[in-house]
Amino acid sequence: MKWSSWIRQAHRWVSVAFTVTVILNFAALKMDEATRMKLAFLPLLPLALLFFSGAYLFLLPYLAKWRSGRNVEGA
Ligand code: HEM
Repeated sequence: MKWSSWIRQAHRWVSVAFTVTVILNFAALKMDEATRMKLAFLPLLPLALLFFSGAYLFLLPYLAKWRSGRNVEGA
């Protein structure tokens, strides 16, 4: 599997994990503060992974253009 499609798949599945952690936070709203505080930071890890993999996915088409431009002789 190509590196970029691996990152895209990872981004897709981590987005599911992120969504689950957000839903958990809403479900815990009526629980005690200690539980809510534990859950509050849970979405940050998948969100950080989404940010870096998303930034890579965002840059992919620009990187492809830059690479193809660089390989054209005399350009
Ligand atoms: C945190 C910053 C994020 C950035 C910078 C980002 C960026 C991107 C980019 C550039 C793409 C590719 C779009 C394309 O190829 O047209 C993408 C796809 C996607 N993003 Fe994100 N994203 C972020 C967060 C999220 C979050 C929070 C979710 C959902 C909870 C999410 C779900 C998805 C999904 C499902 C796709 C489609 C993946 C596929 O091709 O199967 N992303 N994202």
